Amino acid sequence: MNPDINVRIFFAMNYDNRPIGIFDSGIGGLTIADGLIQLMPQESMIYFGDTQHLPYGDKSAKTVQRYALGISEFLLKNNCKAIVIACNTASALAFDIIKEKFPEVKVYNVIDPVVEEVIESKKSTIGVIATRATIKSDMYAQKIKKLNPQISVISLATPLLVPMIEEGFHNNNVSHDIISSYLSKVELSKIDELILGCTHYPLIKEEIKQYYKGRVQIIDSPTIVAKRVSNDLQKCEMLSNSNEANYQFYVSDLTDSFEASAGRFIHYSNIQLDEVKLWG
Ligand code: DGL
Repeated sequence: MNPDINVRIFFAMNYDNRPIGIFDSGIGGLTIADGLIQLMPQESMIYFGDTQHLPYGDKSAKTVQRYALGISEFLLKNNCKAIVIACNTASALAFDIIKEKFPEVKVYNVIDPVVEEVIESKKSTIGVIATRATIKSDMYAQKIKKLNPQISVISLATPLLVPMIEEGFHNNNVSHDIISSYLSKVELSKIDELILGCTHYPLIKEEIKQYYKGRVQIIDSPTIVAKRVSNDLQKCEMLSNSNEANYQFYVSDLTDSFEASAGRFIHYSNIQLDEVKLWG
């Protein structure tokens, strides 16, 4: 063969234009949908917010698992190629059970990609703030310690933050006082990195940064999770090659306040919520 001939080999790449399914207990998971849309504008998405059962953070594992399985079934009936659990509480309590029940579909949680990112950063004391159920599950601490036993993890339940954000209290005096009163707790005084372990918390990331004035690095999940999903779908040749992404946003209980708040969680401007009753 003439070595001067530039031989190019083209491999046929496969694509999958089915939507990605995303769910949360409510509208907080829209921050994760936002991260996915920013990174993968070609992907169609079906979002389901279980507003009828919000908050998950104060419910038992059994109950959260039942809701999470019902929603996963709905997403799969709607032809989703993957499920992103855009809720830390459901990621902590229902990830394994969803994977086991639906082995044919790709399932992503919001905890593992963040854990893998923080253990790379070589920090020695990491704080986690999250709902009561996520903290009780101890999932962040267990997963971090499994990968790096030298890291200390300090976990703090911050249950007032979700209702505060849902009610629109951020960047004001009320949110400032509540955030300061949690972050000034003595157990968090030695941390050098803080994981925002709830998908609502990206909305208060700037206030938390201002509180620490650069002393503590703040980690939230939307970009990290979007990268993980994108890399993995690419590896499996399951990315979409469509020019027309289509987004559907469903909730299990539609109220004026959810409708009014949804836009604060996502940059996509045409968001319209539709109600689907999965539980009657
Ligand atoms: N967005 C949920 C999470 O990430 C918290 C909201 C709830 O308690 O349902 O844990």
